[in-house]
Amino acid sequence: MRQNKIIAGTMTWGKWGKNLSQTEMSKRIEQWVEIGVNVFDHADIYGDYTTEADFGNALKKSSIKAEELELITKCGIQMTTGRNNKVKHYDYKASYIISSLEQSLKNLQVENIDTFLLHRPSPLMNAEEIAKAIEHLKGQGKIKSFGVSNFLPHQIKLLERYIPVEANQIQFSVDHLDPMYNGVLDDCQLNGREAMSWSPLGAYFKEDGSEKMNKIRETIRELAAVYGVEEEVLVISFILKHPAGVCPVVGTTDFNRLSILKKALSFEWPDEDWFVILESSVGRRVP
Ligand SMILES: NC(=O)c1ccc[n+]([C@@H]2O[C@H](COP(=O)([O-])OP(=O)(O)OC[C@H]3O[C@@H](n4cnc5c(N)ncnc54)[C@H](OP(=O)(O)O)[C@@H]3O)[C@@H](O)[C@H]2O)c1
Repeated sequence: MRQNKIIAGTMTWGKWGKNLSQTEMSKRIEQWVEIGVNVFDHADIYGDYTTEADFGNALKKSSIKAEELELITKCGIQMTTGRNNKVKHYDYKASYIISSLEQSLKNLQVENIDTFLLHRPSPLMNAEEIAKAIEHLKGQGKIKSFGVSNFLPHQIKLLERYIPVEANQIQFSVDHLDPMYNGVLDDCQLNGREAMSWSPLGAYFKEDGSEKMNKIRETIRELAAVYGVEEEVLVISFILKHPAGVCPVVGTTDFNRLSILKKALSFEWPDEDWFVILESSVGRRVP
């Protein structure tokens, strides 16, 4: 189980963001691995179902071997862009899970996926059928571990009636604290489940002029100046301090920014200041 490891998110590497060329992607894969970031987070849908294949081609052209990487990917979202669906929906039929994973392997040009996630819970998911599909893929050596994303503990419990769930990737950041209070991070600790957080910077660097974000920024800016670190180090360090051992899935495509974020792994600071930041986010003192 990964703990407090920086994971590289690829959602905006391709068509959904920076539109990196093959050469630019290859260079980033090499640079990321060079500084020890070798876990890459994908989903079939990124770039309207195109980014996995772009990454796979870039990996092939790079000096890095697929075995040096750990790959995460997800399945289950049926989009209306990139596919001829009437409405965005979720599909967790066994045949679809299996064909989606096989397509991801083809796109990424690898033999297996380290961690395969169900992207979002569906009201129509049949836990027993999902388990059969996952067991089949595990039996064939096509996936090493199985997890979920955006699931609440009771939804995981339903799946776990039939199959172990090894990871949950959820939204968690200084301005999005739900997983600390809705049982998700407790569930990860109780059951030895890997916790990954997507959008770990939240709206910190986005155009969000709300009173809450301004207060968080003001507090973090002051503390960062006292400690002599970049603000983003504190933003990431805030989630790393949680005892669930959360792995931030960082989305930057910029090597210098990635190097700064990595500093959070070794940054030590007092718990009391963690509560100062917490207070700025929730807008009141702890009871
Ligand atoms: N499971 C799910 O449902 C789900 C949902 C959303 C995302 N994800 C995963 O989570 C990953 C990360 O999501 P995210 O992109 O929202 O994460 P993030 O790391 O919170 O945000 C990254 C974005 O912030 C920008 N940014 C601005 N200033 C920055 C700074 N100083 N340092 C670092 N980044 C800065 C980056 O732009 P530059 O590239 O220009 O640096 C990038 O666009 C995705 O790639 C995806 O793999 C999963």
